[in-house]
Amino acid sequence: MVSFTLHSAIFSALLAVAAITTFTAAAPVAFSNQTSSRLDACGRLGQKNGVDVKYKDVAACYRAIPFDRFAADTTISTVHDLFRDYYVFTDKALAPRLPKPFTSESVDILKQLQTIGLRKYKSDYQFHTDVRYAIDTLRDGHASYDVNCYTNYAFQQHLSLYAPVKKGVQTVRVFTDYKERGYEDCIVDKIDGQPALDHIRQWATKRVTCSHDVNTRLNCALSRQGYYAEDSAFIDEPGEFSVRAYLPDKRYIDYELRCSNKKSSSRPIRLREEWVVFPQSKIQFEDVESYVANVCLSQGGAAPSSAVHGQARPHLRKSAPLIKKRDLLHAYDTVETLVPVQKFDDAEKLVAGNATIFYRLKSQPDVGVMVVHTLDANFDEVDTILEGLTAFHSHNVTKVLVDLQGNGGGILSLSSDLTQMLFPNNNTLDASFEVDMRAPETVQRLSALGFNSPYGANYDARAYHDLQVEGAPQYENNDLFMKPVNITRNGRTNQYSERTVLYSTPLSTETLTAVAAFPWTGRRENIRILTDGRCASACGMTAYFWTKVYGIEAYSIGGTKGEDLSMFSFAGASVSTLSDLQDTYSLLKMESPLKEMAYKNQVRFAWLELYGKNRTVPLEYDAELYRPNHRLDYTQRNARSREVMWRQVAGASWK
Ligand SMILES: *[C@@H]1O[C@H](CO)[C@@H](O)[C@H](O)[C@H]1NC(C)=O
Ligand SMILES: *[C@@H]1O[C@H](CO)[C@@H](O)[C@H](O)[C@H]1NC(C)=O
Ligand SMILES: *[C@@H]1O[C@H](CO)[C@@H](O)[C@H](O)[C@H]1NC(C)=O
Ligand SMILES: *[C@@H]1O[C@H](CO)[C@@H](O)[C@H](O)[C@H]1NC(C)=O
Ligand SMILES: *[C@@H]1O[C@H](CO)[C@@H](O)[C@H](O)[C@H]1NC(C)=O
Ligand SMILES: *[C@@H]1O[C@H](CO)[C@@H](O)[C@H](O)[C@H]1NC(C)=O
Repeated sequence: MVSFTLHSAIFSALLAVAAITTFTAAAPVAFSNQTSSRLDACGRLGQKNGVDVKYKDVAACYRAIPFDRFAADTTISTVHDLFRDYYVFTDKALAPRLPKPFTSESVDILKQLQTIGLRKYKSDYQFHTDVRYAIDTLRDGHASYDVNCYTNYAFQQHLSLYAPVKKGVQTVRVFTDYKERGYEDCIVDKIDGQPALDHIRQWATKRVTCSHDVNTRLNCALSRQGYYAEDSAFIDEPGEFSVRAYLPDKRYIDYELRCSNKKSSSRPIRLREEWVVFPQSKIQFEDVESYVANVCLSQGGAAPSSAVHGQARPHLRKSAPLIKKRDLLHAYDTVETLVPVQKFDDAEKLVAGNATIFYRLKSQPDVGVMVVHTLDANFDEVDTILEGLTAFHSHNVTKVLVDLQGNGGGILSLSSDLTQMLFPNNNTLDASFEVDMRAPETVQRLSALGFNSPYGANYDARAYHDLQVEGAPQYENNDLFMKPVNITRNGRTNQYSERTVLYSTPLSTETLTAVAAFPWTGRRENIRILTDGRCASACGMTAYFWTKVYGIEAYSIGGTKGEDLSMFSFAGASVSTLSDLQDTYSLLKMESPLKEMAYKNQVRFAWLELYGKNRTVPLEYDAELYRPNHRLDYTQRNARSREVMWRQVAGASWK
């Protein structure tokens, strides 16, 4: 179990937004003295107290939960109206054809929800799964539907997989064998009887939501090296295919392996790997009824995760990490520290902050590598960035490679500051985005109370800047919402706010003076970007500026050999949740038009869309802005070492 313990620890750093109780491996306590035979499916699961839980235990309990028509109707009406009036991409998602590197998928989310509302269900689990799948078709990392009822257990495979290219051929191979049977780098010929790469691509196409680009989704599904902040080290990370926050379709996955390092290399090795189950809460229950009462329902048990963002301003808000709550395992209390830490013989670490790490390549000492693994950090990370760049300069570095792989985003102000550290503003608004929001009557009514209120949150016009006025000062009135414009998208007309701006504060004079001395500042030819497409939200915003406004060349690694791969996964500015919105209504003492849902939930949605410079299509859907200049394939070597990748990009860029 050591490997799993390690494994869970990897994710704990990413759990900032997931306010669910940590499971502690407590000694089993008899909850009831009933005999097993008299227990129902959830009773049998509950009696295990989180110890040795099997797939079938969870499946039986979930499937025993009865469908409640009334609760389902409320759920559908609330989610439907949320996506009709507040979610910003509902009409844009209808687009019948998306250009490369995106994949065409015309989504009518309102119609899908209406259809689910009319369907007859017996299983409550099936109903909630259908709602989740519907929201997932938006492929927006900022939109999701999760209920605690069905995220109470997570699942993991003992094998994690990747898809490197060798001698021009891409094959799925084992990245990590957590059972330590020595299967690393064995070729996976088949998964569940299907050619392995086809199988994972199909799964990623259907089930992964991190991007409109199927190849970025493939990277989200597969393993890679990730930065583990707690140990300040790079370690192996399984992808979404091997770690699930929802009950998988069946108890096991069948693999057919071919291993050149095994004696039996001529014969395929067939493995039937069961899912290992990880409880996600220590909430107790003794039957179906108490499972529903304690785990699922809003009353009783732990409160739904929600935060009051009364004071938040759009550019100060945290954006969601790319890896969603449901993709994470929980840290156990006792975390082994046997994490196989990646050592870089050829890279000297100069400075490390909470979001950034600065290395210098020994074999190419004029190249510095700035790793930006998150933007979810304090404001003073800017000081670390300056310290790192200053260290580069004092070590005679003249070229900077920025590694954005796996960056799930974070605070918008840090994104803008980072952009400006390499390309200082000439004008105040250089690193700012034009944005708009939905402004139908429901939002207008909300904004009328939200204006100039400490509780107005996203609906206080004073949080935005008025582009119609010279110098773009903050709004002094509520025209932003009260004078909406009609926009027709894909045949549907709806009201949006006029365009406003996500304002970014320019860097301080001292910082500007300091960065002016660096030989790469403002010089696109001295900077390169390395990404695996998993650069989300605030990271996507920085990637957009650097590549498309300032012309830095980017290398995208992974995906499918010979196909396009995005530089970033999505760049929508902001994420909110249903409970944030309900909190805003309640703080403004206004009755919400959205009925409370029965189940504890996290329903996330993007409420604001941003535009590239001089663009009419929102950046989220502006596919051509995602395409990189250069493509790299994973190899067995570079996939296991960032250092190898860095040398590869530096070598190709600056001979
Ligand atoms: C065990 O079950 C019996 C019979 O149902 C009941 O009388 C008794 O109180 C129970 N004991 C405990 C500790 O719950
Ligand atoms: C890093 O994060 C820790 C914990 O939030 C904080 O105390 C520390 O000041 C941060 N360091 C930097 C350089 O921002
Ligand atoms: C930087 O270059 C200077 C001048 O060539 C040299 O004296 C110094 O040792 C170099 N510093 C490092 C850290 O390589
Ligand atoms: C500032 O102006 C210079 C000179 O016109 C230009 O090269 C640079 O890209 C501009 N910087 C930004 C951030 O727009
Ligand atoms: C937008 O459409 C609504 C409803 O059709 C209409 O009442 C309103 O006048 C239109 N607004 C503008 C600015 O055209
Ligand atoms: C946007 O348009 C303005 C005015 O035509 C132009 O000066 C600027 O370079 C354009 N910006 C980009 C990024 O295309």
